[in-house]
Amino acid sequence: MLDPAQTVLSMRGVSKAFDDNLVIENADLDVLEGETLAIIGPSGCGKSVALRMLIGLMWPDEGKVFYRGRPLDEMSDDQLAEVRREVSYVFQEDALFDSMTVLENVTYAMVEHTKSTDEEMVARAWECLELVGLGKKERPQILEQMPAELSGGMRRRVSLARAVALVPRVILYDEPMGGLDPANCRRIADMVANMQAQYDLTSVVVTHHLPSVWHVADRVAMMHEKRFHWIAPTEEFRQIDDPIVEAFVSTEIKPPEEWVG
Ligand SMILES: Nc1ncnc2c1ncn2[C@@H]1O[C@H](COP(=O)(O)OP(=O)(O)OP(=O)(O)O)[C@@H](O)[C@H]1O
Ligand SMILES: [Mg+2]
Repeated sequence: MLDPAQTVLSMRGVSKAFDDNLVIENADLDVLEGETLAIIGPSGCGKSVALRMLIGLMWPDEGKVFYRGRPLDEMSDDQLAEVRREVSYVFQEDALFDSMTVLENVTYAMVEHTKSTDEEMVARAWECLELVGLGKKERPQILEQMPAELSGGMRRRVSLARAVALVPRVILYDEPMGGLDPANCRRIADMVANMQAQYDLTSVVVTHHLPSVWHVADRVAMMHEKRFHWIAPTEEFRQIDDPIVEAFVSTEIKPPEEWVG
């Protein structure tokens, strides 16, 4: 049963189709207070769709999604807005605003939701950027820079900084390591772990990057056949004796031979 004291986000019996493409069918998932849950599975299996439904950016055709035991679809607009303030979402594409400076990007939600002064916003922006290794010491000019002037890895770090600006209770990350080189993947994984420790968060990380999963996740949920087929603590997940899990894990860690050399 749902225990709102322990279960931050959950879905029960959720199905979602796009026209005749049934993507998720009768899926259940619980995200527990304080954990980092990784969601893995092949490209196109519905990870991003599941993540969007967890925060009401997409609605299931059947079933329900709960935030701390309360169904999202029974909330008023104000209540839903409050949930979205508590739950940050880092999009698969970095989705920084290209026409805004780093400062404006990081403090965007503060402008919307708080009455902070300019000084408070600058101070908060530095705190958040510090957390992702882009602090005053490393990048004294960064607040005034535009996203286009930054590397892909730095843009990703700025979008992580933006996600913590309002001190969320939950962060949902969609492919935070996507498209980055191994060193940057590792750096982002470290940042996900740092933010978790710093703010006592609950995190959900959708990723193909299994080394990061082993590094940061407390539990792993693997999608297969339209639902979360396997959910287990990370160490247990790595021991699962199932050819589908083994095949997925082994191809993701070692690229196929034709890719090497
Ligand atoms: N807005 C949409 N309209 C129509 N179909 C969609 C929409 N969003 C997702 N889909 C379909 O739902 C399925 C799952 O997509 P989703 O983006 O969740 O996959 P994913 O597991 O996140 O893949 P990847 O690992 O490549 O990001 C795909 O078949 C996709 O085409
Ligand atoms: Mg996706």
